[in-house]
Amino acid sequence: GKYRVVSTKPMPGTRWINLLIQNDCRLEICTEKKTILSIEDIIALIGDKCDGVIGQLTEDWGEELFSALSRAGGKAFSNMAVGYNNVDVDAANKYGVAVGNTPGVLTETTAELAASLSLAAARRIVEADEFMRAGLYDGWLPHLFVGNLLKGQTVGVIGAGRIGSAYARMMVEGFKMNLIYYDLYQATRLEKFVTAYAAFLKASGETPVTWKRASSMDEVLQEADMISLHPVLDKTTYHLVNKERLAKMKKEAILINCSRGPVIDEVALVEHLKHNPMFRVGLDVFEDEPHMKPGLSELKNAIVVPHIASASKWTREGMATLAALNVLGKIKRYPVWFDSNRVEPFLNENSQPPA
Ligand code: GLV
Ligand code: GLV
Repeated sequence: GKYRVVSTKPMPGTRWINLLIQNDCRLEICTEKKTILSIEDIIALIGDKCDGVIGQLTEDWGEELFSALSRAGGKAFSNMAVGYNNVDVDAANKYGVAVGNTPGVLTETTAELAASLSLAAARRIVEADEFMRAGLYDGWLPHLFVGNLLKGQTVGVIGAGRIGSAYARMMVEGFKMNLIYYDLYQATRLEKFVTAYAAFLKASGETPVTWKRASSMDEVLQEADMISLHPVLDKTTYHLVNKERLAKMKKEAILINCSRGPVIDEVALVEHLKHNPMFRVGLDVFEDEPHMKPGLSELKNAIVVPHIASASKWTREGMATLAALNVLGKIKRYPVWFDSNRVEPFLNENSQPPA
């Protein structure tokens, strides 16, 4: 292989490996046992010559790593994730390294986990499972694990991009929920879908669903029965859900987060959950991963899973393939041959090597 490509982790499937080795790349996959590599570990992996790196969202890609990659002749860094809050894109630009992410292939899988957590929280499935396994079930009772009916309730979506819109469609179409969403951009396709679906229900003699685009986030918090967070994490969305905003939500609301942990002030959330036993959350992400804030794990009204929203076989293999394509595309200057309406291979396509 003419080009040296490093992957900081083994990734699912073999297609990404074949793509690289069949295209003049010598691939090195780090098999280090510890889960999270340090900056020093990654600098050692980059070494003296490295054309591109495929890395993970647990790694802090800033000045140090991009300067090391640039010194080694690197042209591309591919983050195996759609979120790139772990990447300092300005630093990448400064060192002439293109940055890729893996959108598109994880949209439905991630939305499906948000929907799973929504249902699990609404119907208290995890609590009920623990109850069964503890041998506590001694007969059917009218009051046993009574939860919420979604039909006719309002689902609130904060951040109606690819994933937020897919989730909204699932909840509206699957469970006949009304929709309220907040986004800086109008979710035109989502609006069209819900409008058409409402007309279909009406024509079938059923109660049509309703939708509205909220003019503020607080409007969503106040009106929705179930709220799912799908913004990108940046300075403007850090602690978007804080103590004051939690207080604005309905006492029996359900909050789902499959975006990034720091979007919620987790300490404030733990307090809120303690004081509002009917308020429930489903969390895939945490402020300080892999840790949870004190108290969270003891709360019955919280469902917690370890950042697995994109974890379907199809999606993880797709993310790995896309990550390899991103690196390859940059090194070999291939034209982009995959569907460019569905994926955005580079975040900073115009980045130029320093003069
Ligand atoms: C996972 O969290 C991702 O951003 O892809
Ligand atoms: C409950 O099991 C019912 O049959 O209503």
